[in-house]
Amino acid sequence: MGRPRAVDEIERTGRAVSTRNLRIIMNGVTGRLGTNQHLVRSLLAIRREGGVRCQGGVVLMPEPVLLGRNPDKLKQLSVAHGGLEWSTDSEACLADARNEIYFDVSATVGRRERALAAIAAGKHVYLEKPIAGDRDEALAIARGAQAAGVRNGVVQDKIYLPGLQKLRKVIESGALGRMLTVRLDFGWWIFDGALHPSQRSSWNYKRAEGGGLVLDMFPHWRYIVETLFGTMTSVSCRMATRIPRRIDERGEPYDVDVEDEAFATVELDGGVTVQIASSWVTRVRREDMLTIQVDGTDGSAYATLHRCFLQPLAATPRPRWDVDVFQDNDHLAKWQEVPSMDPYLNSYRMGWELFLRHVQDGSPFPSPLISGARALQLVDACYRSHAERRWVDLPELSS
Ligand SMILES: NC(=O)c1ccc[n+]([C@@H]2O[C@H](COP(=O)([O-])OP(=O)(O)OC[C@H]3O[C@@H](n4cnc5c(N)ncnc54)[C@H](O)[C@@H]3O)[C@@H](O)[C@H]2O)c1
Repeated sequence: MGRPRAVDEIERTGRAVSTRNLRIIMNGVTGRLGTNQHLVRSLLAIRREGGVRCQGGVVLMPEPVLLGRNPDKLKQLSVAHGGLEWSTDSEACLADARNEIYFDVSATVGRRERALAAIAAGKHVYLEKPIAGDRDEALAIARGAQAAGVRNGVVQDKIYLPGLQKLRKVIESGALGRMLTVRLDFGWWIFDGALHPSQRSSWNYKRAEGGGLVLDMFPHWRYIVETLFGTMTSVSCRMATRIPRRIDERGEPYDVDVEDEAFATVELDGGVTVQIASSWVTRVRREDMLTIQVDGTDGSAYATLHRCFLQPLAATPRPRWDVDVFQDNDHLAKWQEVPSMDPYLNSYRMGWELFLRHVQDGSPFPSPLISGARALQLVDACYRSHAERRWVDLPELSS
């Protein structure tokens, strides 16, 4: 365990620091993502390393309050981490003025109601994606938070992954020239529960419970594409349900009523075209579960979750097209790897540190809830494009 950052701060600046405890209601924390990423690798890691340093020498120390439905699971999680406070009573948690932030990582269904209740109770709100079931619900939350004057944000973790950060640097360096097209390829095989247990909870495959691949993944595609390549203006999408029946956590079969595969083409304001393939029914035969290739006039770049490769114009090979003779060509070897320059920090934790500083100092936060509503606008547009077999425009949204 490293020394508390607060001690380092005193030694570095000679200035005393004050520690401020900040209680955070974590609803849904016993779930897969809530426990591993948000609790253990984000807030508990921040605590272990001495808090988040803010302006004026203030060190913020997050204090998680575990909220959920199952007392046994909550108790177990609490004990595993030194006796954290826990509750199954969300009204009491919201009524407690000591709790300043409401964070929601529960299953997607019902997030709108939970978020609006937290806003009405005057809490700052930080929400997992998707922030609601559709664009109008999402806008109601974003506008509600703004009207109440509470700090607000949506988790947009993927942009902090090392591969995407490196890609961002490559683009900012100008090495690609004018960007032309982007190809984003995402997916892996999710077992149906017969041969092996499914890697995703059954609610992911039920419309009424907030399931669906487009609702799950396209919120990510919106902020990734817009941060790196340009503003989305129009989308065309086709989707399918390839595995219509699955086995749930109790071993019971159920019907799937959502898509498990989607292919979209997106136009950006600068003229770039983006192709997006997303699937829970594909086996990985590429470098990673998410890969992004961008081709530009002066070079191309290819990012995986952790790595990024570059092929500049001057080093672009001229492969021989001859279908009659096998070409023993190692195309991958002709790319240069972008080195790792910055230490890796968990991508969810990066979001938390920014959000905590936003709450304390009012410093800018890159993903307020209105950008969560823009994500739902894309999701709605994909469903409409599929149903009506046409392109759907994405007009500017504001809170
Ligand atoms: N940022 C990301 O990349 C990312 C990744 C995974 C999940 N998520 C989001 O996090 C949320 C939770 O996902 P997860 O994978 O941890 O799910 P999970 O099924 O593992 O956990 C769901 C949690 O919600 C609780 N819950 C409350 N109401 C429920 C209901 N009606 N049905 C089922 N569970 C209910 C469960 O008790 C559990 O604590 C989802 O909104 C999902 O979209 C985001």
